[in-house]
Formats: sequence, structure tokens, C-alpha cells
Amino acid sequence: MSKKILAIYYSQTGQLGDIIDNFTAPFVDAGVSVEKVIIQLKNPYPFPWTGKRFFSVMPDCVLSIPGELQPFTLKESSYDLIVLGYQAWFLSPGIPTNTLLHEPAFKAVLKNTPVITITGARNMWINAFERLKKALQKEGAKLVGNISLVDKHSNWISFITIFHWMFNGKKDRLLNIFPVPGVAAEDISNTMVYGTIASSYLSKGNWQGMQEELVKNKAVEIKYNLMFIESKAGRIFSIWANIIAKKKNQTAWLVAFKYYLLIALFIAAPIILLVNAIFFKPFLSKRIKEKKQYYLGVN
Ligand SMILES: Cc1cc2nc3c(=O)[nH]c(=O)nc-3n(C[C@H](O)[C@H](O)[C@H](O)COP(=O)(O)O)c2cc1C
Repeated sequence: MSKKILAIYYSQTGQLGDIIDNFTAPFVDAGVSVEKVIIQLKNPYPFPWTGKRFFSVMPDCVLSIPGELQPFTLKESSYDLIVLGYQAWFLSPGIPTNTLLHEPAFKAVLKNTPVITITGARNMWINAFERLKKALQKEGAKLVGNISLVDKHSNWISFITIFHWMFNGKKDRLLNIFPVPGVAAEDISNTMVYGTIASSYLSKGNWQGMQEELVKNKAVEIKYNLMFIESKAGRIFSIWANIIAKKKNQTAWLVAFKYYLLIALFIAAPIILLVNAIFFKPFLSKRIKEKKQYYLGVN
């Protein structure tokens, strides 16, 4: 009997959909039955976003407040593999993914099932992945693989271009000067390589060594500076989210958060990174190596 996989995800721009299509193509070629389910929210977020709406989702993302999904059906009661596509939103699992993780039908198929997580992020997915990992563990799923695709341009460039994309709805070059935002087209089509690797492990029925092979093929890469910024920012976002969530009139606070984000990224982060590079990083090489290794893995 042919193996069955479920590929389930949300995608606002279609980027993650393209990634999932490329990833699952080798499974289809190998005769595996691939069921794709695209989840939708009952009250969809606008795309393109307005600035106000974009920042308004921050507290719910960070505090893991679920929304409501449109009803969806799963054809099977169990799968040989679940491919879970997710977005990082404000360093947290996106609200659609977080909502999916509250759905009884999805929770039921997760139990004892191997899962591969895939994201197409700007460049900060570690906190979201860590939280997703915990949620999957709680449901008794077996995380066997992780693929994290990112925009490989500098943190500043990708910050500018993602807002151009999110607020204009077009994945094109701002002013014809900046690069195309998001995950590069060649990285998206290269996801097929990861699908080929995963498909061979599925047919063997043994996942041992798969994540190492994916990492060798650059399915996940960890950049120290981004890992460092994200670890600090995650804690600060949580403080902001807790304060804002308690406010009756959140608008002014969300505007303040937006300016905080700009100052943190363009002014504070370079200074903190420099201080860290001089006074701390040289003495922490063993710990940094261990941390990077940990985030490359799925344990
Ligand atoms: C509200 C919002 C917040 C986001 N926050 C992050 C983030 O913290 N880290 C990151 O790498 N990307 C972030 N992104 C980018 C998304 O992870 C993703 O790359 C983009 O939305 C395209 O995904 P799609 O497949 O849904 O179109 C954010 C996007 C949105 C809409």
C-alpha cells in the first residue's frame, strides 16, 4: 500500500505554497499519496497589509492567542508523515499555525506521527520554531526534520524589502534598486532536493540521519548575529505584548512598538552586536557552537 503524507499549511502570498509544492513533488514522483490542505482563517488577514493592521497582530502572535479557522477536512485518520508549513510572525508561530495547533482534528493525526516542519521566513524563525517544537511535543508528534528557508540578504535590506512586499502586495524590487524580497526563487525550487532526501527516508521507514543530511544540503543555516538578536528580541517582544494586551486603547502603544522596532534594528542592534563581539563573543565560542548545533537539529 502506498504511503500517505499530509502537507498542511497557510500562505498569504503563496510563497510557502511554492515551497511546499517543490518539497512534495519528489514524494508524488515516488508514488506517495500527498494530501495538501491549505488552511484559511474565518476572518482572513488583509493582503497587502495596512501598517496598522500588521502591527495589531503582534500581541496575539507573541501571546499565542489563536484565531478561528474555516472548517477543513482531512481524508485520512492517520498519516505516515505530516509536512507542516508555518510562518514566523513577530518571532512567534503565525496565528494561522497556532490556531491549527488547537484544532482537535489536527491534534488527533499528530499523535505518534513523524513531522517535518518547513518555513519560508524573512530571517528570524528560531523562536517560532522552538515554540512549535514544544507544541508538537505536547501533542505526541515525532519531529523528524526541519527546513528553514530565509531571505539571505542583510538584516536591514530584508527588513526594508519585506515591508515593501507586505504593504504593496508585490514581490518585486523596491525602486528598482533593492533586491526582490523573500526567499529567493532558486532556494524555493531547490526545496525539491530536500523533498528527494526526505522521500528516501520515508520509503526506508527510518528517519535516523535525515536532519543531518538536510543540514549538509543547507536546509537550515544559523547566522550568529541573527541568533543573538533574536534571543534578545524574543524576550523584549514578550514584555511589549504583555503590556499592550492589557491596554484598552492599543493604537498608540502599537505605534510606539513600531518605532521601538525601527530604533532597535537600525540603531541599538549594531551597537549591542559590536559590544558583544568585543567583550563577550570571543569567550563564548564553545557555547555558541553548541547553540548553533542545537538549532540546526530537531531535538
Ligand atoms: C505579521 C507578520 C510578521 C512577520 N514576522 C516575521 C518574523 O518575526 N520573522 C521572520 O523571519 N519573518 C517574519 N514575517 C515574514 C513571514 O514569516 C513570511 O516570510 C511572509 O509573511 C510570507 O509568507 P507567506 O507564505 O504566508 O506568504 C512576518 C510576516 C508577517 C505577515
